[in-house]
Amino acid sequence: MSARRPLISGNWKMHLNHFEALQVVQKLSYLLAPDDLEDVDVSVHPPFTDLRTVQTAVETDRMPFAVGAQNCHWEDSGAFTGEVSPAMLAKLNIAYVIVGHSERRELFGETDEDVNGKVLAVHRHAMTPILCVGETLAEREAGTTETKVVRQVHAGLAGLSPEQVAGMVVAYEPIWAIGTGRTATPADAQAVCALVRATVGEVAGADAAVSVRVQYGGSVKAGNIAALMAEPDVDGALVGGASLDPEEFARIVRYRSEPAAS
Ligand code: 13P
Repeated sequence: MSARRPLISGNWKMHLNHFEALQVVQKLSYLLAPDDLEDVDVSVHPPFTDLRTVQTAVETDRMPFAVGAQNCHWEDSGAFTGEVSPAMLAKLNIAYVIVGHSERRELFGETDEDVNGKVLAVHRHAMTPILCVGETLAEREAGTTETKVVRQVHAGLAGLSPEQVAGMVVAYEPIWAIGTGRTATPADAQAVCALVRATVGEVAGADAAVSVRVQYGGSVKAGNIAALMAEPDVDGALVGGASLDPEEFARIVRYRSEPAAS
């Protein structure tokens, strides 16, 4: 087993207004004891309109969570109506920014080049990108998973120093497993997460490959997290739907004591 500290992240997508988000984060804080967080990092990624509220609550009550964003622009300021600046996120003490989520790529046309610009921008402001990669069902069935994931990792990490890559998070999220209730088998998740790590090694060297944290995402639940986390190259999870329910998300964070689904 590696020395990499696991990271469990809750991506709330376009759910929960700021009142609801506050309740969820407060409940999560109440449900998790300090012991539960001794060996695992946790981040929550509310919608932009909730960030200030959640970040204030987390800091005031010293909740042991990092606050993350779901996206950002690659420029710091300018005439970009409706976009959110990475500099402004950094000012809010945002720790992690999800970049290149498949919903951004598929629904909003983000290219590998856009994603790389965002990764660079997040680093510029000393935040940590969670770079998302993953294949569609058609790509999996056509046998092109590896080609696509390798391309996305190469493109996403272009222009970074080995030290920057070493501190990053890459999330492998097979698109066919997102919100569908279908999860990659632990063996399939392991195979692609290992490929991600090997590709990081090609791009940034062996030290970066050992240090980079690779998450799995796609219908992660309390019942399947333990088996996924038991794989050597799975260092965490990027959780969508199940992170909206604080009871379920707390059980995911406590995966070491969760019984695996039969
Ligand atoms: P689900 O956990 O709802 O499948 O979503 C995964 C995801 O896209 C997290 O970013």
